[in-house]
Amino acid sequence: MALTHDPTCILVTGGAGFIGSNFLLRMVPRYPETHFVNLDRLTYAGNLMNLRSIEKSANYTFVRADVTDSELLATLFARHKFTSVVHFAAESHVDRSITAPLAFVRSNTLGTVTLLEAARAAWSDVAHAAHARRFLHVSTDEVYGSLGADSFFTEHSPYDPRSPYSASKASADHFARAYAHTYGLPVCISNCSNNYGPYQFPEKLIPLVIARACSQEPIPIYGQGDNVRDWLHVADHCDALDLILRNGQPGDTYLVGGSSECTNLSLVRIILDLVDEGLGHPSGHSHRLITLVTDRPGHDFRYAIDASHLRQALGWRPRYSLTEGMRQTVAWYLDNMDWLQSVTDRSYRDYFQAQYGQL
Ligand code: NAD
Ligand code: TYD
Repeated sequence: MALTHDPTCILVTGGAGFIGSNFLLRMVPRYPETHFVNLDRLTYAGNLMNLRSIEKSANYTFVRADVTDSELLATLFARHKFTSVVHFAAESHVDRSITAPLAFVRSNTLGTVTLLEAARAAWSDVAHAAHARRFLHVSTDEVYGSLGADSFFTEHSPYDPRSPYSASKASADHFARAYAHTYGLPVCISNCSNNYGPYQFPEKLIPLVIARACSQEPIPIYGQGDNVRDWLHVADHCDALDLILRNGQPGDTYLVGGSSECTNLSLVRIILDLVDEGLGHPSGHSHRLITLVTDRPGHDFRYAIDASHLRQALGWRPRYSLTEGMRQTVAWYLDNMDWLQSVTDRSYRDYFQAQYGQL
């Protein structure tokens, strides 16, 4: 396939978070001729420990900064002459968005517009040489709302965000598309389903279940546990982003999903079985930890992606099945209990106490 964009210096925002750090851990060694500048504010979700194996690489630089800081962005664009932006930085947890929505408007919506403005100003000279620059806006399938028992999201699904998180991401998507349409900024948008894998903050379902199973504490499942998510290993998401960055068409949108749908309850049982196996517990030992709790307000019932556009246009295929990916992921957390412990000690216990009280 002909390469449409060959980045020499990439600004990665939010590279200390879950997906951003997995992206850098894969791409920094893969592309030694490309320089990666990681701009991250280091909120509770950002963790430089994730990036230890690449922090001394000659083609990697970290800058602690907020994506809403327009002056700093202008300085960085002038200094590094970025040819591409991969924009992950965001507040990402739905439950937190229900408690405190303004932080989501600020980082996700205002942050994205500030970054688009910085790129527009810096790249005004090459507006017509679209192949020379690329702005990849990393978004979520949650902008499309909630599905019933069948049907799938496609690039043509209408926007219908239903949580403050998804509303802030939908708004950012609209701005990204508007900059492509109005100013010719070479924007691609990706909307991905739920990710899992190493380095995910344990407020999200999968690491939360693993952490609570390790400490044999109750595991809160919202409602009846019959909500459905379409899970994708983070490595497959990162490889899709790499393809979109290099071969995607400016102005195009790509949905990314693993065709691995599962109800929350079935998924939690799979994880508990893997944890029990890994810790040498008898089979089924941890199922008693499952505790049905009051449902999340406005809880979207089902997300599911039709990724045929990405498959056909760019030849992407996920490598992990849900079974293999979940086995690898549980094994990673059990092998990296020091990481889980340090994250839990740092900021997770207070959050869990405020969210669930004495479960
Ligand atoms: P995360 O919460 O783990 O990481 C977010 C990172 O952004 C953190 O390092 C944080 O410090 C940084 N950040 C937050 N606000 C910032 C600001 N104002 N300025 C600079 N840095 C800031 O999130 P994630 O799960 O890695 O998600 C990354 C992106 O992918 C988000 O845009 C999210 O909407 C999108 N996404 C996530 C999933 C998923 O399942 N996790 C699925 C699809 C899309
Ligand atoms: P989450 O990981 O927060 O991702 P999202 O809400 O963005 O899909 O949650 C995944 C699913 O798990 C979602 O249906 C909500 C549910 N869930 C629980 O049942 N209990 C929990 O403690 C959490 C965090 C999530």
